[in-house]
Amino acid sequence: MLEIKSLRKNFKSGTEALKGVDLKINKGEFVSILGPSGSGKTTLLRSINGLENIDNGEIFLDNKKIDRIYLPEVQKKTGMIFQEFNLVNNLSTINNVLTGLLNSSSKFLSMFYLFTREQKLEALQSLETVDLLDKAYSRADELSGGQRQRVGIARAIIKKPLLLLADEPVASLDPKASNLIMSLLKKINKEFNITILCNLHQIELATQYSDRIVGLLDGAITFDESTQNINKANINEIYK
Ligand SMILES: Nc1ncnc2c1ncn2[C@@H]1O[C@H](COP(=O)(O)OP(=O)(O)OP(=O)(O)O)[C@@H](O)[C@H]1O
Ligand SMILES: [Mg+2]
Repeated sequence: MLEIKSLRKNFKSGTEALKGVDLKINKGEFVSILGPSGSGKTTLLRSINGLENIDNGEIFLDNKKIDRIYLPEVQKKTGMIFQEFNLVNNLSTINNVLTGLLNSSSKFLSMFYLFTREQKLEALQSLETVDLLDKAYSRADELSGGQRQRVGIARAIIKKPLLLLADEPVASLDPKASNLIMSLLKKINKEFNITILCNLHQIELATQYSDRIVGLLDGAITFDESTQNINKANINEIYK
């Protein structure tokens, strides 16, 4: 469902963040990208949904090449989850979830939080999926880190994406909350058949929750294996 060919991204600073990445993800797969800080994980995810302009290569979603014209549709089909949650603190949980329905062209509406009854019901359903209905009307800054990330997930799934891009979704959480968030992603992956591409630092979490692990080092893929085939040498390669 996602195919990346010879992707290159250079930053103006001179950094070659991605040096020709090829990656194919099948529908319904849960793939983790494992790599040290600065290896290009975030840049890779941001290139897929157009948050970064790419310098070279091609990306296909559902066999269609992503270009300026297809990008808005790609953004509708793609949800994103962030390390720092990116919630609006002074808004209620439900309004944060509803912002997941907005695209850049409806920013105007977002100023007034004018949503239909149907959309509010969808937001409540998303909150139910992440088991946070009881906090629907709490302010986002009254929630714990794990709860905030659950809101982040609800915001990403409200638009029923085909693909979920998670950029180190558990980096700010303790082990217990991390496992809860990863299980939730796995549940969403299985129940809704949403394909997941997840950047991680932790080998254990990648091994426990993903079908396939891709190693990234200095902007290049070093291994791409199904989880059961990952060995110590693969890991040592990226964390030497
Ligand atoms: N906006 C930017 N301007 C210039 N250089 C950038 C920018 N964003 C990232 N880089 C550089 O590109 C490289 C890859 O960065 P990226 O954020 O993709 O790494 P990462 O694997 O996500 O790291 P981390 O695990 O720390 O999040 C790094 O060398 C980084 O300094
Ligand atoms: Mg990153």
